Amino acid sequence: MSEQTGQRVPAGEHGGADIEFAGDDVERPEPTGPPVPDTVAEPIPDPGVEADVVRLADVDPKLERRAERQVAGMFGLSALLVIGFVVAYLIVPIEGTDDVVSSVRTSNLALGLTLGLALFLIGAGAIHWAKKLMPDHEVVHERHELRSTDEVRAATLAEFEQGAEDSGFGRRKLIRNSLIGAMLLLPLPAVVLLRDLGPLPRNAKTRTLWGTNVRVMTDNPDQPRPLRPSDLEIGSLVNAMPETFQDLPEEGPDRLNERAKSAVIMVRMLPEEITAAPGRENWSVDGILAYSKICTHVGCPINLYEQTSHNVLCPCHQSTFDLADNGKVVFGPAARALPQLPLAVDEEGYLIATSDFTEPVGPSFWERG
Ligand code: FES
Repeated sequence: MSEQTGQRVPAGEHGGADIEFAGDDVERPEPTGPPVPDTVAEPIPDPGVEADVVRLADVDPKLERRAERQVAGMFGLSALLVIGFVVAYLIVPIEGTDDVVSSVRTSNLALGLTLGLALFLIGAGAIHWAKKLMPDHEVVHERHELRSTDEVRAATLAEFEQGAEDSGFGRRKLIRNSLIGAMLLLPLPAVVLLRDLGPLPRNAKTRTLWGTNVRVMTDNPDQPRPLRPSDLEIGSLVNAMPETFQDLPEEGPDRLNERAKSAVIMVRMLPEEITAAPGRENWSVDGILAYSKICTHVGCPINLYEQTSHNVLCPCHQSTFDLADNGKVVFGPAARALPQLPLAVDEEGYLIATSDFTEPVGPSFWERG
């Protein structure tokens, strides 16, 4: 057992300067090198080195041996578990059984448990060893000054100046200027390659296929037809698309993107149940309202409508919007109301939009709040 305080390890034993273990009555080595000016007061007083706590295993040989056996036991058990891993790998079949899924599950369980416990016991044993048996004395090892000596600094500077002189960087203006020009142009390929990121989105995130006098069509890919107010009953919800969607090419990402942005839900309720925000008084037709079908949280399509409360629920994270009150969020993580599409009726009696959405549809992103 080693002494707890004031222990000195001579230089010869470890190849460096003498190291002295801290204790209550330890003599500190004097720092070497030039004195450090004491101009700044320590903002927090140095609490000094904590006094050693004498552990039971340090003073009781019986406890020390017990800790030793515990550590060895953990290492030994770990070795057994590694052997168990190999055995489990060899004897638990995963092929040629009637129930492959449960065989794989059993094999994974056996392999995971044996290897996981083996690793855990090595770690636990090492920690137990360090905490109970290894010396826990505080050791002071003074750090040498980081600043080079004046002679070394002067020699380095002289070498640098000599190198600059030998290269002729200052003298050979043609080479120097052509090198500077080449270095300035070097980042250009990286800038040009940014073009490969694709075309700029421009207003693709803020506009949809809706616009002035665009008819509202049933969302029936095979036979879309324009909707009249009489097609919607009170309490009903109908999916709809803009008439202009039919003009897009049959295939391609544009069609999918535009479909995702332009999908709307149409609901009908008694006109007196609607609380229109200022400026939206004429956005409904006989109690018919149109809202974006895309949740403003992270963009799931919404369809679960509750007639009596006029609430529509997003199935993904349960954001709930009140369609009678401007699509306001009444519950859930969505941060914005559902965008509303202003409606009217054309001369032929079909429902039309009077403009595009007045705000971006879909999930919020950094510019939308
Ligand atoms: Fe609708 Fe999350 S996507 S609540």
